[in-house]
Amino acid sequence: MITLNVDLGERSYPIVIGRGLLNDKSLISPYVIGKQVVIVTNETIAPLYLDKALALFSAYQCETVILPDGEVYKTYDGIMPIIDCLMENQFDRRVTLVALGGGVIGDMTGYAAAIYRRGVNFIQIPTTLLAQVDSSVGGKTGVNHPLGKNMIGAFHQPQCVLADTSTLNTLDDRQLSAGLAEVIKYALINSREFFVWLSQNMSALIDRDPDALAYAIEFSCRDKADVVAADEKEAGQRALLNLGHTFGHAIETALGYGNCLHGEAVAIGMLMAVDLSVRHGWIDNSVQQQITALIKSANLPVRVPIINNVKISVEQFMELMSGDKKVLDGQLHLILLNTLGSSFISADFDVDKLKQTLEVFATG
Ligand SMILES: NC(=O)c1ccc[n+]([C@@H]2O[C@H](COP(=O)([O-])OP(=O)(O)OC[C@H]3O[C@@H](n4cnc5c(N)ncnc54)[C@H](O)[C@@H]3O)[C@@H](O)[C@H]2O)c1
Ligand SMILES: [Zn+2]
Repeated sequence: MITLNVDLGERSYPIVIGRGLLNDKSLISPYVIGKQVVIVTNETIAPLYLDKALALFSAYQCETVILPDGEVYKTYDGIMPIIDCLMENQFDRRVTLVALGGGVIGDMTGYAAAIYRRGVNFIQIPTTLLAQVDSSVGGKTGVNHPLGKNMIGAFHQPQCVLADTSTLNTLDDRQLSAGLAEVIKYALINSREFFVWLSQNMSALIDRDPDALAYAIEFSCRDKADVVAADEKEAGQRALLNLGHTFGHAIETALGYGNCLHGEAVAIGMLMAVDLSVRHGWIDNSVQQQITALIKSANLPVRVPIINNVKISVEQFMELMSGDKKVLDGQLHLILLNTLGSSFISADFDVDKLKQTLEVFATG
């Protein structure tokens, strides 16, 4: 078991990573202030882990909310069952919400915690690789709008993050790969060394070698914790963590939430950022090939899929991207690479080159 710290002064919190953490009651008691707890999970995760979570919080007055499973339910209305439960039980400001699940449950529960009585505590128990390496850390919470991903939300940090890596044993292969996309992201943004390690260990990760997974999760969380501590509200360097996301969110929105998984869309989006970086001469073709090979070896898509006959045109890409959160004063900002393991944010790219990249990846 290892413990990392997200250093945010009074709001600092630990990320505990290890096997079998759901069996250890002593881990959570320091982070629950009141007597009331609401565990939020979904209908897929409940049969697998709800009993363990209930045992973990058996010393508290504990209610459960089981939401339907899917990105398509990550909506403003979708969080109402959580608020209803809190209201019906007259839970006060000392209540603790517990997010037991992947990034969807984490984002929704965190957002409910941010707005109920103007903010109550919450604990993240991430059960997907994506949530363990990324979404459970850093306090970004929220829901989707039909016109844009994560457009409704709040920064609200958890009290602690408990990443029990044994929960990953029940995750299906496609979801594991989706999580690997965010792991690869950390390497591309700022660590050539980690990129080399990933290239050498991708088959072990795909085979769920516990030591390889533990190392990848630890590296990713350490990196994210440092970035969040330095720039909690994304005034600067935290934006780099959005590599591939402006493109990726456009793909997710265009194809219909849940059809292309977030991690899959990010993988394609990162390749689009790489393509645009090559067109500017910032990185060369050999680097592009290495990155494409790594993404392929993680069993991730390298082209936009056509799902339910839905195709994305260049114009649609442009329109969806212009509604992105990284548009400031009408100017689109993109995260691009200047070498393998080093990235920067720029509004100073050539729009014609962007259109060329979009043409390569557009499907209709
Ligand atoms: N807040 C952030 O900083 C941040 C960062 C990255 C992604 N996100 C968000 O996270 C979401 C994606 O998260 P995700 O990839 O975890 O998807 P998800 O939450 O939809 O989980 C994926 C699937 O795996 C199932 N599942 C979860 N844990 C399981 C387990 N242990 N065993 C078997 N099945 C399990 C879920 O029920 C679901 O069907 C997106 O909405 C994305 O926008 C947020
Ligand atoms: Zn992401």
